[in-house]
Amino acid sequence: MTRKLMMCGNWKMNKNYAEAVSLSQLISNRSYKNWKDVDVVLIPPACDLKGVSNVLEFDHSPMQVGAQNCHWEESGAYTGEVSPLMIRDCGATWCLVGHSERRQMFGETDTTVNLKVKSLLAHGLKPIVCVGETLECREAGEALPFVTSQVRAAFAGVDARHAGEVVVAYEPIWAIGTGRTATPEVAGEMCGAIHECLAEVFGPEAGERVRVLYGGSMKPANVERLLAQETIDGGLIGGASLKDEDFAILVEAALKASTARGANRLKK
Ligand code: PGA
Repeated sequence: MTRKLMMCGNWKMNKNYAEAVSLSQLISNRSYKNWKDVDVVLIPPACDLKGVSNVLEFDHSPMQVGAQNCHWEESGAYTGEVSPLMIRDCGATWCLVGHSERRQMFGETDTTVNLKVKSLLAHGLKPIVCVGETLECREAGEALPFVTSQVRAAFAGVDARHAGEVVVAYEPIWAIGTGRTATPEVAGEMCGAIHECLAEVFGPEAGERVRVLYGGSMKPANVERLLAQETIDGGLIGGASLKDEDFAILVEAALKASTARGANRLKK
């Protein structure tokens, strides 16, 4: 099964409106038509969604836009929240759910992750569900059961027909923003285990369609080795997505990896 590689730039709480428009223009200028062979998603702060999607629309860019979070209700008395309908209205087609920063600092739980996943799908949006263990969890030998339980909880009650619309991002918490990357083998092994778990959750055929990304200090210096692991279907990139030249190097590496995977498949 060929899964299209995907590279997502999570800008976190960086870039005001003018800076976000400018960065998306710079990235768009560096992109070539073949960027359509990899799904490239820009994930700016909520207030920049419309500006970034306007730039991509104006440029007829194949890149897509995603939000960093949303509430599961359509509207109501939820001060400070934005709904799936609102982010869709701003041009987003994707939305991160359960990023570890939201789980650790803003009380996101497996239950709210599941509610958000279901709501996004019901509103025609595609969730990128983030999972990952702490260093203590890994050192206690609990990483695999912990991460697979997060995956199962996120997709509880989600119909297998949605498998092609959901993505999982494996982001070991100890590797996020620390400069400390999981080795390609460690990342590849966990992404492989997540694929196996997804096959159990959605059934083997549908489960194979779900892409599993790696995130945590992915950068130009390590992207090729990470994407050499065929269980890793792309990246969720924080720090290195804030510079257009670095982000372009990462996308170009994904395009190369995608071509290499195609050639490997032909040889088999
Ligand atoms: P990082 O962030 O690339 O800066 O480690 C990744 C993420 O948190 O999505």
